[in-house]
Amino acid sequence: MRTRRRRSPAGVATGERLKFHRTLYFPPKFLWGTATSAHQVEGNNRANDWWAWEQRVKNRPKSGRACDHYFRYRDDVAVIKSLHGNAYRFSLEWSRIEPEAGQWNHRAIDHYRDLLRQLNRSGIKPMVTLHHFTLPQWVAKHGGWTRRHTIAYYLRYVRYVVGELGDQVEFWTTVNEPLGYALHAYLVGLWPPQRTSYWQTLVVYRNLASAHRRAYRAIHQMYRARRWHKPKIGFNGNNVSLYAYRQHSLFSWLFIRLADWLWNHSFFALTGATHDFIAVNYYFHYRLHGVHFRILRFYTQARAEHREMSEVGWEVYPQGIFDVLIDLRRYGKPIYVTENGIATTHESKRTRYLVSYLKEVYHAVQAGVDVRGYFWWSLLDNFEWHLGFTPRFGLVKVNYRNQERTLRPAAYAYARIVSVNAIPHRMLRVLGHSINLPATRRRKNRHPA
Ligand code: BGC
Repeated sequence: MRTRRRRSPAGVATGERLKFHRTLYFPPKFLWGTATSAHQVEGNNRANDWWAWEQRVKNRPKSGRACDHYFRYRDDVAVIKSLHGNAYRFSLEWSRIEPEAGQWNHRAIDHYRDLLRQLNRSGIKPMVTLHHFTLPQWVAKHGGWTRRHTIAYYLRYVRYVVGELGDQVEFWTTVNEPLGYALHAYLVGLWPPQRTSYWQTLVVYRNLASAHRRAYRAIHQMYRARRWHKPKIGFNGNNVSLYAYRQHSLFSWLFIRLADWLWNHSFFALTGATHDFIAVNYYFHYRLHGVHFRILRFYTQARAEHREMSEVGWEVYPQGIFDVLIDLRRYGKPIYVTENGIATTHESKRTRYLVSYLKEVYHAVQAGVDVRGYFWWSLLDNFEWHLGFTPRFGLVKVNYRNQERTLRPAAYAYARIVSVNAIPHRMLRVLGHSINLPATRRRKNRHPA
């Protein structure tokens, strides 16, 4: 611990601790990762519902070659290694593995097996997501998640990939952000199949919960039968932190309780004890004015109040991740932050975001929350769904013309953090402690206004 000799006003030297500049150590064996998802980075995922929708709907951004990660994964694994990362979260593209009902594409399996081997050999623990927003077109044509038989299709796919790849994988997540998916695709109508129905949203959400429960049991049973090491299975929730303007209104309080239950706990309520760990994606702090059910209105407040935001209009609010982690402690399971990051082209802002959010994760650990890993979203700039390629979330910049990768300043900062398993005290200066303000100069001939 660094101490600085200081003089008290009476002129007596004191050894005061520089509390703000203490290096913040994370627990041993902490997983330091980055995350991507198949459709956002692989390129040419022609057999899924997103691809079909991108071609069909006018003026839609098209994923095209994306980051060509499907062919450049070896180089990208080398990038992760150069950043000292010891974990990588990615998703399997169901439509590549099963382009038509019941037809398995062995080459796709070989591809993912090789990716897993590369990761494991490099000391990078894979966390594999089985469903990250996209469906094979044949499943979508059968009604997607509005139909119960999609659960059976999903389980057949899960059994197949787990049988083929399970020996390489310890961490599985069954579905990514089930609520976010159901709302965007079935209530707000922003994503395919662009429905705006409360009823279908509920049905989709319930079916996703049932798919999770059954996949959880099936995967455990398969590992047991093959005598593989016990897997760890969860789903990726998109938890939000909430603030009520009218703190003392009973009505607001009730509404916040309802919103909190819906966003942060309803999937747990529907899936019971089928979780070995909690996987949380954190981006959103919602300031709730009153009771309104139009989901997009949640986003407007940060802008109206001129708060600091990302380039997609999401408020920068580091303490929110602390609040969410404290809240998740109730489930008594290890917690992994499986996504957190910012869309920006201001590099100092990206680094500040990284350090300030991680600092809150550190505080949560100090407060007794069993956080065991953190994955930055994203390793690469990528296809941000309906927003296309404009938002830049990557630690690594991608030039989409020639697929060149360039490490951003935040990548170097992250590598430094990962290599020492701590936020070094010097790096905390990025948050504004210990800034040397220029001495105020007296201006001559200054006239009062
Ligand atoms: C999703 C990612 C997405 C990220 C940033 C998460 O909700 O899982 O696919 O790119 O947010 O919007």
